[in-house]
Amino acid sequence: MGDRIDVIQGDITKCNVDAIVNAANTTLLGGGGVDGAIHRAAGPRLLEECRSLGGCPTGQARLTQGYDLPARWVIHTVGPVWSGGRRDEDGLLAGCYRSSLALANGQGVESIAFPSISTGAYRFPVERAAAIAVEETLRFLTGTTPPDRVTFVCFDLHTYECYRSAVERLAGGRPS
Ligand code: APR
Repeated sequence: MGDRIDVIQGDITKCNVDAIVNAANTTLLGGGGVDGAIHRAAGPRLLEECRSLGGCPTGQARLTQGYDLPARWVIHTVGPVWSGGRRDEDGLLAGCYRSSLALANGQGVESIAFPSISTGAYRFPVERAAAIAVEETLRFLTGTTPPDRVTFVCFDLHTYECYRSAVERLAGGRPS
């Protein structure tokens, strides 16, 4: 199963996969971080489509076209803001991965790339987030295709090391 999961360090807007996932906010109207990068790379038509969606609750996901991105689709998901772990942040973050993968499956997306959702502006602890991301992805991939390949795209070295060790520990193999 670990051979269907990659961990790389890089810029998700450059990923040539069927769908990239955006760490958005509930308005879906853009922001900083990876949200800002994706909107800049996709161009203004992405914001136009997002405006028509009427927002997205935390833990859920919405699908749009990718426009000027290499990826055909963008799956926007809204992670929880970390507030100490007593407001079901873990469950909401797991929901981001589950709902993004379910949307990808429904759309016939074969390859999907995730950023490290909630671990930037939303301050979710990276190691804890990586374990949730990998566990939820493994659970979804068991017995379900598509997607066939999931890539965790980490922007910095520390995040990359957290996701790699989570895959090695939980998927029993070295990510390809
Ligand atoms: N490619 C991949 N990862 C990236 C990129 C990029 N181009 N840019 C930033 N990241 C990483 C960050 O370094 C972090 O590890 O994405 C991870 C998530 O950080 P944020 O983008 O801050 O997302 P999040 O913590 O979920 O906060 C979401 O921030 O940008 C706003 O509108 C967004 O309100 C929402 C909030």
